[in-house]
Amino acid sequence: MPRTWNTIIEPFKIKAVEPLGFTTRRERERALKEAGYNVFALPADKVLIDLLTDSGTSAMSAEQWAALMRGDESYAGARSFYAFEKVVRDLTGYSYVLPVHQGRAAERILMSVIGGPGKTVIANSHFDTTRANVEVTGAAALDLPVAEAWDFGHAAPFKGDMDVAALKAKIAEIGASRIPMIVMTLTNNSLGGQPASMRNLREVSAVARRHKIPLIIDAARFAENAFLIKKREPGFSHRPVRDIAREMFSYASGCMMSAKKDALVNIGGFLALNDAQWVAKAREVLILGEGFPTYGGLAGRDLEAMAVGLVEVLDEAYLTYRLRSIEDLGEGLRSCGVPIVEPPGGHAVYVNAKEFLARIPPDRYPGQALVCELYLTAGIRAVEIGSLMFGRRRGGRFEPAPMELVRLAIPRRVYTQSHIDFVIEVFSDIAARRDRIRGLRLVESSPTLSHFTARLAPERS
Ligand SMILES: Cc1ncc(COP(=O)(O)O)c(C=O)c1O
Repeated sequence: MPRTWNTIIEPFKIKAVEPLGFTTRRERERALKEAGYNVFALPADKVLIDLLTDSGTSAMSAEQWAALMRGDESYAGARSFYAFEKVVRDLTGYSYVLPVHQGRAAERILMSVIGGPGKTVIANSHFDTTRANVEVTGAAALDLPVAEAWDFGHAAPFKGDMDVAALKAKIAEIGASRIPMIVMTLTNNSLGGQPASMRNLREVSAVARRHKIPLIIDAARFAENAFLIKKREPGFSHRPVRDIAREMFSYASGCMMSAKKDALVNIGGFLALNDAQWVAKAREVLILGEGFPTYGGLAGRDLEAMAVGLVEVLDEAYLTYRLRSIEDLGEGLRSCGVPIVEPPGGHAVYVNAKEFLARIPPDRYPGQALVCELYLTAGIRAVEIGSLMFGRRRGGRFEPAPMELVRLAIPRRVYTQSHIDFVIEVFSDIAARRDRIRGLRLVESSPTLSHFTARLAPERS
């Protein structure tokens, strides 16, 4: 047996560096006020450690930078498209590959093909843009996660699974003809970045096939999901993670992917499908909104970088380091008494702000209050996944979200273990004075995806 070591090391050397944004407390107070207490409105150079998202924030490898130079910028039939198409086909096994500029473009195109009033799309959980793209067509978006996904303190291995009994019941209730597709989001970003098991994918796939409903994977974090199957599901520990990923894709008939996560690029995405009729319609929408089908809103060089990233992300040394580093952050927070969604997810640690700041009611946004405190204390930027993101405000009435979480998303290959240690130290400081943190009032918001643009103000003391 090879010896294992405790120290977590980055499986790469650093070739280019970028300075961090150091600020004073006073500068941060001013910046946050100007941003309306919404960290999406902060200038990034006033952020020290940016854990807002793992999306589009990866560091590319030397191979990816080299691949950019191979980019063929021909309008139609670029060599780069065929290189990209081959990588996606080899990985997923799907026949048709349509590049798009990012995940939500794939969602918009697919939903415009299959959505519409009277229909219901069922998912383990829709990501917020996926839900918005379903709903904008007049269709309903229904989440059927397993019940344990809501028990944040309970560490089960596959809280990203779909509730198969609930799926069967729902199909019986509304009829398969009104369900144009079932979506498995891998990993489940909205409920803690939790993976789905192969067993669950197989079961959902069998139900979908029986009712002739296409199963589509939201593949944004497919490699992290595959690696967590390898680590947690009996029978997979000796299988290469690439084979596991291929098996995952084999249970569905297509996928939509935001390449800004597990393709290790800063922009990009794709739709990969088997259904020729869907593809014919999708191509029309693609040409209208994105571009010719062999570039889909991207440059040839972006296609090359995605092709390399989709291979690199399955490197097991990389995945071992990534998952271990995130677990380490979870362990650190737990040890300072910060309640987190257990176990830590594949791309982020989610803090349970409802418990951590139990004195602040949902209509005073405990998650956003913690987000602001992290920024004011040390320039760390995180994101609220709670009532600011998912709460509904109808005719003066407030309906809170079922959870008040703060996500600390870890960009890929960007920060080192000392940055992670620093985040833990900041949390231990905040935990000691959590009773003094105040809630926020909503001052201004828009009807859809309001968390991006909302303005808030501190609650009067
Ligand atoms: C699971 C999931 N699906 C879809 C998307 C949307 O992708 P994009 O931001 O590239 O439009 C995201 C983005 O974070 C996501 O996490």
